[in-house]
Amino acid sequence: MQPPVTLISDAQSAEETFLRQIFVRDQMAEWSRDPLVMARADGVHYWDIHGRRYLDALSGIYVVSVGHNNRRVIEAMRQQLDVLHFSPPMHGTNPVAVRLANLLAEVSPGDLNTCKFECGGAEVTEAAIKLARQYHRLTGHPGKYKIVSRYQSWHGSTMGSLAASGLKSRKTVNEPLPAGFLHALPPTCYRCPYGKRYDGGACGITCADVIEQMIDLEDPETVAAIMVEPIGHTGGVIDPPPEYLPLLREYCDRHNVLLIFDEIITGAGRTGRMFAAETFGVTPDVLCTGKGLSGGFAPISAMIVRRPIADVFWGPIETNPGFVEGHTNEGHPVACAAAIAVLQEILERDLCANARQQGDRLRAGFERLAAKFDCIGDIRGKGLLQAIEFVEDREGRRSFPKSVNFGVRVGRRALAHGLLCRFDPNWIAFGPPLISTAEQIDEMLAILERSLAETLDEVLSARRDA
Ligand SMILES: Cc1ncc(COP(=O)(O)O)c(C=O)c1O
Repeated sequence: MQPPVTLISDAQSAEETFLRQIFVRDQMAEWSRDPLVMARADGVHYWDIHGRRYLDALSGIYVVSVGHNNRRVIEAMRQQLDVLHFSPPMHGTNPVAVRLANLLAEVSPGDLNTCKFECGGAEVTEAAIKLARQYHRLTGHPGKYKIVSRYQSWHGSTMGSLAASGLKSRKTVNEPLPAGFLHALPPTCYRCPYGKRYDGGACGITCADVIEQMIDLEDPETVAAIMVEPIGHTGGVIDPPPEYLPLLREYCDRHNVLLIFDEIITGAGRTGRMFAAETFGVTPDVLCTGKGLSGGFAPISAMIVRRPIADVFWGPIETNPGFVEGHTNEGHPVACAAAIAVLQEILERDLCANARQQGDRLRAGFERLAAKFDCIGDIRGKGLLQAIEFVEDREGRRSFPKSVNFGVRVGRRALAHGLLCRFDPNWIAFGPPLISTAEQIDEMLAILERSLAETLDEVLSARRDA
């Protein structure tokens, strides 16, 4: 007999909660043995239903940019609710969406100045794919439909965004996926897929070069867009060499291919500039942002398009249907009010500068740990998006055997010690809120150090006993 559904109102009832009522993102049988259920949050902290406190070194999942329980954002949403909580999306838009579009145009690099709002990352990366295809159709190149993206990337769970993604662990179970998607190997310098060493660019940036070769071999008249995260997250925070993104820009210009940046994680200040496009000095044709844009207070994402691309969608109705894409909750007034308040927080409190400053502190802390622990092979990322890759043998860059599951063990220990971060078998990543202070960064590092030392002890003593 299944127990009755119980609402989670306190620790007592949570114990009896019927957890089979909910699909979680983890392997569910595993998760339900020790379920994490958050009850409240403030600043850079969560509390679970048992009253345990967690330092949030992950901003939820790179979302909570301006902190939990940010009163300015909450107040802006409350005020918006009193005025207009929903506007008819088929007939027009609303003043808050227009204000947000204007603000995003102001803070975006180059002539990125026309916005389409959606509710999440997958919706918006998928919209970017559709925009690229329709753009080429409207400009006399209807055969340009292929999307070049990368292995190990993640662009979302809907079928189109999933087809662009490069993770077999999330794709295979959903195959067959839509056609027209090609994948290149990512710029993982620490483990160059072409067996080279970067050495100031002496490698010839083969990882970029092969993308131009792919376009050429496929026939440029069939390729619509290249879509990449400026810093790839899945795969362990893949921070490209400085030449990489400028080269992609060059190839796109040469072959009439649109460059799409998926900045769902890297946008809204995370890498120390409003967008990673500025961090790398490359303006894409389409920039997708989400997650931190509204700080998690409401689901919203935005596709920001360069003027000349957007202009193509303004022709007469007889020949131009406009951009054929839409969702019921796009441009939701309350979500737009939240995003405006978040952007104001980032701008007025100069949280990009804080992301750079605390990012430097985090990097220095990771480097101190690397001096102490040989199992840290590489440190990557920018601003408040940084990762450590673990190795069993630093000299040979050899990973721990799969069965050791090293990074996951470090991450689970960190969680048990009250630190939320992103963990994978071979790496661990931090992406704390942009409001994090030096003391909080130090506290995060201290918990990581303890968790790392304990995991190493455990692994080494198991080996001694074996
Ligand atoms: C880089 C990137 N793009 C797109 C997505 C999809 O976003 P969402 O989960 O909001 O659909 C994610 C989600 O983690 C992401 O990390």
